[in-house]
Amino acid sequence: MNPVDLIIFGATGDLSARKLFPALFQLDAADLLPLDLRIAAVARQEQSIDTFQQDLRSKMAGYMRQEINEMMWERFAGRFSYLSADFSQPQAFGALQSWLDDARVSLFYLATPPSLFAKICEQLSHDGCLTGPCRIVLEKPIGESLDTSRDVNETLARFFDERDIYRIDHYLGKETVQNLLALRFANRFINSQWDQSCIDHVQITVAEKVGIEGRWAYYDGVGQLRDMVQNHLMQLLCLVAMEPPNSLEAESIRDEKVKIVKALRPIDATSVKDHVVRGQYSQGVIDGNTVPGYFDEDGCESTNSDTETFVAIKAHVDNWRWSGVPFYLRTGKRMPDKVTEIIIQYKALPHHIFGDGEAPEPNRLIIRLQPNEGIEMTMVSKRQSLKDKLSLQTHTLNFDFREDADIDRIPDAYERLFLDAINGDPSLFVGREEIEESWRWCDQLIAACQQCDVTVNAYQAGSWGPSKSELLIDRDGRGWHV
Ligand code: BG6
Repeated sequence: MNPVDLIIFGATGDLSARKLFPALFQLDAADLLPLDLRIAAVARQEQSIDTFQQDLRSKMAGYMRQEINEMMWERFAGRFSYLSADFSQPQAFGALQSWLDDARVSLFYLATPPSLFAKICEQLSHDGCLTGPCRIVLEKPIGESLDTSRDVNETLARFFDERDIYRIDHYLGKETVQNLLALRFANRFINSQWDQSCIDHVQITVAEKVGIEGRWAYYDGVGQLRDMVQNHLMQLLCLVAMEPPNSLEAESIRDEKVKIVKALRPIDATSVKDHVVRGQYSQGVIDGNTVPGYFDEDGCESTNSDTETFVAIKAHVDNWRWSGVPFYLRTGKRMPDKVTEIIIQYKALPHHIFGDGEAPEPNRLIIRLQPNEGIEMTMVSKRQSLKDKLSLQTHTLNFDFREDADIDRIPDAYERLFLDAINGDPSLFVGREEIEESWRWCDQLIAACQQCDVTVNAYQAGSWGPSKSELLIDRDGRGWHV
């Protein structure tokens, strides 16, 4: 395998200091980075490598839980070059071109605003930086609609083969999200009970305590649907619903995921009011602290925006396996807890043989993606007692991933994604068709919301969203797990 050079654009940005460099540092400290991996940090500012590194180190210290070990830092810092590039100049990447080596793989990582993707690709090509083997990694969002995502993908396709394009959805890098594949496809008893004959419904909740974190300008233009549903929730839904892939090759997994997105029943003007609830937080209390409402957030530029910060959706996958099984999706900001979980609610048994007592509770599988990563399964057993001959009780089998012997911490998603991109394994990255089909479904839903005036309902920060979200599931005789 050719040695790899990693070139990070947007190296002085927030994502780089918060996620990218800490992940690389952890990999290096664990001896998982190739010894000969070189890193070029590219950003607009003119500054020396020393200034860049000092600044980076102090920012990283604020984001990392562990202390930065001096020896590890020296080795890590030794991999770096800093290159400033001003896009307004004709030969912006001239210095980068001299730094690159055609005998090595160039792994370009675009941690920049998406508006720069096309410009960077064009400039790389223009300045002769794409002559050797190369791959490109992109952060979301890939467009803001089907049309705009196609534009981005078309531009990428002019310069890179699809197999060399690594589109990040950081949820796919989370250990527990990958565990979904193991849970489903490495356990016969789970796999054989995974369809409409046994499952009543599925819930996917991605709740965050944080608000929009100073990103008003970005967030107000997109909202929770585009920011979270089109990508993260869609990926989780696909991993729950997809058929077993033929192998763990990227193509195999992507093919199965695309089939699910295509099988999603469209939510249009005739169904949107019964299937979608939108909300926006007002001031409230989380963990005993008063937190501002959406319009009081830093950087707010409006007093009447109807951008949703919460959305609940009842979706259906119209295929043989999932016919009649609703998927309830829910995601919001400023919720009482940070919780990402998937609930598989099994059907009640067809016949009750245990006397006059209540029928046993149907089994439930809870896949906790974050925090407290693990799996819980409710099971029914006999109460140990001589008084009642056969009375039942529900137990919970709990598998806590953090107690797993090999793990002293759950690695950050970016660690897995960096390793895979460096090793040329795109299976945990998102393919073009998945993204475009997902936008197609979301665009229709968003258009239906506008057409039918699906209003945003206010909810207090620190609550689980507007009461209409409870109604969405209550009226089917079901309830949210949390
Ligand atoms: C990002 C969204 O993709 O995911 C943010 O843009 C959101 O709005 C974040 O807060 C959530 O990620 P995680 O890993 O904290 O669940």
